[in-house]
Amino acid sequence: MSIYSPPADWFKAPSGPERLWVGLALIWCIVMFIAMPYWHFYGKQNSTGEAYAVEPMTFMQRTMQFADAHKIREESGVPVAEVPPGGDAYLLARMWSFYPVLQLRLGQTYRLHISSLDLQHGFSLQPLNMNFQILPGYDHVLTVTPTSTGVFPIVCNEFCGIGHHTMTGRIVVVE
Ligand code: CUA
Repeated sequence: MSIYSPPADWFKAPSGPERLWVGLALIWCIVMFIAMPYWHFYGKQNSTGEAYAVEPMTFMQRTMQFADAHKIREESGVPVAEVPPGGDAYLLARMWSFYPVLQLRLGQTYRLHISSLDLQHGFSLQPLNMNFQILPGYDHVLTVTPTSTGVFPIVCNEFCGIGHHTMTGRIVVVE
């Protein structure tokens, strides 16, 4: 029989090792809960919380204009845009690429606008492991100050269809 009533006194309070493990799990839950607000203030890797409503097509046009105006070269058919220090950078996510490649300078601060043309994507900057959502209809502005040079891959970490695993981009930081 799949349906039957358990005896009325079925519950046995945890004891011995079970009690210990439930206790450890509870303590860890509390630590992680406290870590969230702590990291919000001291993590230095958080969103500014600044976002604007934008039509996906409008954001794409802005990104295209930005890429055309600041293009310094191409890498595998994708323009590399050198962002003016202190300026606004645009990054468009779409199935299944990031556009364009951004080139930033060490120690300069930029406003990075991210949005999606189609559906939800993820912005995961490696190897720093900074993660943000990219949503169509929202221009999410991040403040970015590179602290080291190199090529930083961007990986989409929200499942977005059959080409999800191929969806990567780059931010290049130079002296
Ligand atoms: Cu875009 Cu996964």
